[in-house]
Amino acid sequence: MKDDRPLERALARVLSPRLGHAPSRWPETLYLHVRERAQRAGLGEAEYVERAGQAGEAASLAMLLDAATIGHTAAYRHPEQFERLGRVLADLAPRRPGPLRLWCAGCSTGEEAYSAAACAEAAGVDAAVLGTDVNPVAIAVARSGLLPQRRSVGAPLPAPWVERVPEALRRRVRFEVASLTDAQPALGAGPFDVILCRNVLLYFERDQVPRLLGRLAAELVPGGHIVLSPAEGILPLPPELRRGPAPGWLQRPEGDAVEPASPRAQAEEGPASTGAGAAAREPGAEAAARLLGAGRADEAEQVLAALLNADPEHLEGWFLLGEALLARGERAQARAAFQRVLRCSAAGARHVDAGALRRAAARRAEALRDPR
Ligand SMILES: C[S@@+](CC[C@H](N)C(=O)[O-])C[C@H]1O[C@@H](n2cnc3c(N)ncnc32)[C@H](O)[C@@H]1O
Repeated sequence: MKDDRPLERALARVLSPRLGHAPSRWPETLYLHVRERAQRAGLGEAEYVERAGQAGEAASLAMLLDAATIGHTAAYRHPEQFERLGRVLADLAPRRPGPLRLWCAGCSTGEEAYSAAACAEAAGVDAAVLGTDVNPVAIAVARSGLLPQRRSVGAPLPAPWVERVPEALRRRVRFEVASLTDAQPALGAGPFDVILCRNVLLYFERDQVPRLLGRLAAELVPGGHIVLSPAEGILPLPPELRRGPAPGWLQRPEGDAVEPASPRAQAEEGPASTGAGAAAREPGAEAAARLLGAGRADEAEQVLAALLNADPEHLEGWFLLGEALLARGERAQARAAFQRVLRCSAAGARHVDAGALRRAAARRAEALRDPR
């Protein structure tokens, strides 16, 4: 239910058109930021927010967006995806004239874009990377190349930088402020061979996702790849895209003809693929996926424990629990959760692609066979 207090109304009016999403509760950092700034300016909180949304207040709006978004990121986040990215780039490069083009949509402070450039370099591939984010403060940090080293455990390559991104890497990456909701979210820089859009779509309503992914797909070359985070691999897809070989990995088929999704896949995907109201039906899974995307695996685990307690056959819940445990380094428990997905009945997957989820869970359980 929408909150009708003046501050909530002002936040929704000023921020939601830019972000494309309106959470039921904004991050605590945003409320603290608004309180402090409004006091300093001698304004009411809602009045401060409305003013920040007016023309000529770009700096105040940028700071509001910074406080309203969750920019958690790290170099080589989801390391197994960077391993695969290196192989995919090496495979694509001989078949494309000129440098490969990559786009990190929702790149936060740039770690993902610089990691992608480092990955291309290690694969001996010429690549140009565009990083975009709706948060102008994050983009300013990304452009500065001054990044404290936060690196994912298990990263496939040596750290690409320590405190300052090397000049050679910086030359391969360009950063711009843009929202996924803009008329030209990729600023006319496409078409791209690979688009990374990881831990971003989690913040949107489930029924917005196919349209957003359709817009990303329109920026891809035929045969190009879109990479979501592994936990986002269960989101509903538009007809232009197919699920790829790993969780979160999507592909636009070669050739212009777009096949409609098979009736079986549609049946498996259930009502979520047609949109309306899916998020409202799965609030636990939705909230857990969002927490996971924000790097809050402990909290995600708590939400999932409650969800699975109430519904022990919740296929998506077990898969997300596997992801949360993996994020916390609990490999043996994560494997058990992925194996549990395989034992759930398909009736437990009312709003997701049960087949894709099972295949992803089987692969993950297999990869975790020797828990370290
Ligand atoms: C959790 S971070 C993910 C960063 C990086 N992709 C990763 O996986 O490490 C989510 C990012 O999405 C950005 N974001 C949220 N809504 C957006 C929108 N409508 N357009 C572009 N970026 C958006 C946020 O500003 C934030 O930097």
